[in-house]
Amino acid sequence: MWLSCLVITTAIAAAHSAPEPPQGDPVPHAVDHLGRVQFSSPVAAPSTIVVDQFIEPLPPPKMCKNKAGFSVRKASMKTMTSSMLNPTALRFQEVLVNQGGWEPSTNSFVAPCDGTYYFAFHALSNFGWGATVALMKNKEYQMTAYGDEAGYQAASNSGVLFLNSDDLVWLQIQGNSTIYEHPNKEAYTSFSGYLLESFHTPDEL
Ligand SMILES: *[C@@H]1O[C@H](CO)[C@@H](O)[C@H](O)[C@H]1NC(C)=O
Repeated sequence: MWLSCLVITTAIAAAHSAPEPPQGDPVPHAVDHLGRVQFSSPVAAPSTIVVDQFIEPLPPPKMCKNKAGFSVRKASMKTMTSSMLNPTALRFQEVLVNQGGWEPSTNSFVAPCDGTYYFAFHALSNFGWGATVALMKNKEYQMTAYGDEAGYQAASNSGVLFLNSDDLVWLQIQGNSTIYEHPNKEAYTSFSGYLLESFHTPDEL
C-alpha cells in the first residue's frame, strides 16, 4: 500500500528553547523498517519533514503458539455422490481429534496461522462406480485421488501446503463419482491434517 506522505514532528520544544547555530539543510540519512526517518545527528533533525512514497511495512505473520490439526472419519451418506455439473463438498460423521482448526459446522479446516501443513485423505469408490476426490484450498484444487469402476477401489493422496491464516482446506467429490462408506462400525473415508511449522518473523530467526 502506498501512502502519499508521512509527516514526522520532532524536537519542536528544543527548537524554541535555545537558538541553534545554523546547520544548513538537514539531510535524511535513512528510513528504518518502521518508516521512521533517521538522521546522522539529532541536532540536524528539523521540526517537520515530509517523505514521499513511503512503503508501509507488511504486518508480521500470524504465529501459532500451540499445535493445530485434526482427523475425521466416515463420509456422511448425504455427500457421497457427485455429478459432472455438481461437485459435492464431503462431510464427515465423526471427529477423532481436533487440536485446533477443524470446523464441524463447515467440515473444513481453517488455518489458525501462517505456515506449512500436511494433509492426507482416503476414500473408496463404490462397487462399479468411479470416485474422484480433490483436496481443495479455498476454491482451488491441490491434489486429486481417483479410484476407477473396477470394484471397490481405494483413492488416496497427500501433500504439504503453504497456508495463510483463515485459508480453508476441504475435500470435494468431483465428476460422476460415488464413494462407499461402511454403514456400521468401520470407517473407509478419512481426512487428516496438521501444522508442520508456523512461520517465523525475521526477528526470531
Ligand atoms: C456414471 O457412472 C455409472 C457407473 O459406472 C455409469 O453407469 C453411468 O453411465 C455414468 N454416467 C455418466 C453420465 O457418465
